[in-house]
Order: sequence, then C-alpha cells, then structure tokens
Amino acid sequence: MTDSHYVDVRDLRRVFEVSKPWLNRILEGGDRQFLKAVDGISFQIAKGETFALVGESGSGKSTVARMVVGLLPPSGGEVRIDNVPMVGRASSTERQRLRRRIQMIFQDPYASLNPRWRVAEIVAEPIRAFALIDGERDIKARVGELLSLVGLHPADGAKFPHEFSGGQRQRVAIARALASNAEFIVCDEPTSALDVSVQAQILNLMRDLQDRLGLTYLFISHNLAVVRHMASRIGVMYLGRLVEISGGRELFSSPKHPYTRMLLDAVPDLDMTSRQRLPVSGEIPNPINPPSGCTFNPRCPFTNERCRAEVPLLRDGVACHAIHEGRLSPLAAA
Ligand SMILES: Nc1ncnc2c1ncn2[C@@H]1O[C@H](COP(=O)(O)OP(=O)(O)O)[C@@H](O)[C@H]1O
Ligand SMILES: [Mg+2]
Repeated sequence: MTDSHYVDVRDLRRVFEVSKPWLNRILEGGDRQFLKAVDGISFQIAKGETFALVGESGSGKSTVARMVVGLLPPSGGEVRIDNVPMVGRASSTERQRLRRRIQMIFQDPYASLNPRWRVAEIVAEPIRAFALIDGERDIKARVGELLSLVGLHPADGAKFPHEFSGGQRQRVAIARALASNAEFIVCDEPTSALDVSVQAQILNLMRDLQDRLGLTYLFISHNLAVVRHMASRIGVMYLGRLVEISGGRELFSSPKHPYTRMLLDAVPDLDMTSRQRLPVSGEIPNPINPPSGCTFNPRCPFTNERCRAEVPLLRDGVACHAIHEGRLSPLAAA
C-alpha cells in the first residue's frame, strides 16, 4: 500500500430490498423490489487529504459513508483502510485497532450525543471504551485538552448537550471523535443544520485540526459551496454512481459532466459572470425504477439515443457519452 491509497474503495455496491411485506404481496400481487442505493463506486483517499462526495439528497452518499466506516455491510465491492479490509479476512484484533482510528460525525450532533450525559462523559467514553488512558485524573485532563482543542472551555465538560448551541454541539461531537486518537473521520453533512456563519467556523476548525493532527477526511455534502474550501478532490454522485471525479479547483473551474454544471450553477455566490447559468431542473428519478442508459438522461440537455440506451462508464474522470464523444467540451477555465 502507498499513502495515496490510505482509503481504498473498490466497486462498492449496496442494494436494499424495498418490497411490500410478504403477505401484502400474496394478497395484492407485486414482485419483490430492490433499490440500488450505491451502484459500483470506486475512489481512493490519500493520507491527510480531504475527499468530498457531493450530490443531491437520495444519491447514496450516506450509504457510502456507513459502508466505509463499517456500520453497513456492502452488497458488493470492498473498502480497505490502511490496507485492512473492513469486512472479512482481517483478524479481529486488526479490525478493532482499525475501528479506533475511524470515526464518524453526523449532521445532527444532538441525535448522536447522549442527552443524559455530561459533555465530559461523552468525550471520555471512547477513551474508556478503548482503554487508552487509565486513572480518572489523567482522563479528566485529556478531556479538558480535547475541549480546548475544539474551541470550548474545559469547564464546559460539566454541561449537558442541550445547554449548547448547534455549532458548539458539533464541536463536542468533533472532540468525541478525536478522543480515540482517530486519524480518519467521515463527516456526513456535518454543517448542513447550522447557520451559514457558524458553518464557516466549524469548517475552519476542521481544516485547522486537519493541519495540526494530519487527519484524513471523507467529507459529504449536498452543497458544492461547502466542499469548495475543504476538499482537495471531489466526487459527484448521481443515483448511486460517481458521474465525475476531479481535483477540487478543477471541478469548479472546468466542470465536465452536465450534472456537475447544473449543481455549480445553483451555487449562489460563485462568480460566473461570463457564463450562462443552467438552473437545476427536474428531480431525481425514482431509484427503484431508474431510467435506462445514463440515469441523468431525462434531465440532461445533451441527451441522445445512446444516452438512453447505454450506461456511460467513468473514463478520464467523467461518465458522460457527450463528453467522451466530443459532442460536449469541458467548460474552459476562466
Ligand atoms: N435502509 C434502507 N432501506 C431502503 N432504502 C434505503 C435505506 N437507506 C437508504 N435507502 C435509499 O437509498 C437511497 C440513497 O440514500 P442515502 O444514502 O441516504 O442518500 P443521500 O445520503 O445521498 O441523501 C435513497 O433512495 C434512500 O431512500
Ligand atoms: Mg445523507
């Protein structure tokens, strides 16, 4: 393994059964139904890098996140972190060691923090669970240090989660994630519930912690503007597939896939004076019964017969027949 493949996701898939209950099927008829939430995606994250996944709600981002941290078994494909497979093969001690190094931060910190525990206990819990420090005095000192690290006061440890604002609660969640000395953090819409100004503070904190601690992030958001200043590389998801993957700067300056352009045009504060805006139009199709060929074809202004018939593969960082055939050029950098 090299550091550039610290996180290695290969052809990851997840199918959910969404059939009516068995008895209803007998009485009312109807087949078993399946939904491909994640349909064969691959990406690598280098150590110390931030890789972002973006896409509208329902595109499969959270399902990828849950498989990457081992909360949900994949239907196919593989996740390896630091060369340890998240499922099968590795020894249990190897995987337990890996678990400590991976943490997840969610959109709603209130739901992920036990409301009946004081913050000091919440932050101390991973330290106890992994037996990282013994002695109450040393645990308390470490918790104070972690709270300071995320911009809170050690005395805040005596409070309960409800005594904090949303932004402060997300700081507590970050302190808890760092308590196990995590090195890889999966952040699923970590700032989506926060006001814009608070969002910026949390993003700055996360970047600062990355610099200080050498953290690796998988950063998930439905909002391209949020990932712009966070990610070194960005993957754009649509209906369970990656439609474009490229360097962060490049994605904003010369997007290729029509869907990426549509998402970019919906970002209000981007300077695009020289370009015509394509507003996001149409809705994500029903994932139980997706369109044939390229699943974006009903919303795409460049669709032709081939797009309706044949699934485009990801090649040169984009999965689009119009781009591959040269019918459509990547937008030139301004
Ligand atoms: N446990 C589940 N059972 C059935 N369908 C699910 C389940 N979890 C997610 N889905 C479906 O999978 C698709 C992707 O969901 P999700 O990963 O949450 O997307 P995102 O995070 O991008 O909004 C959606 O159509 C969603 O309804
Ligand atoms: Mg989600």
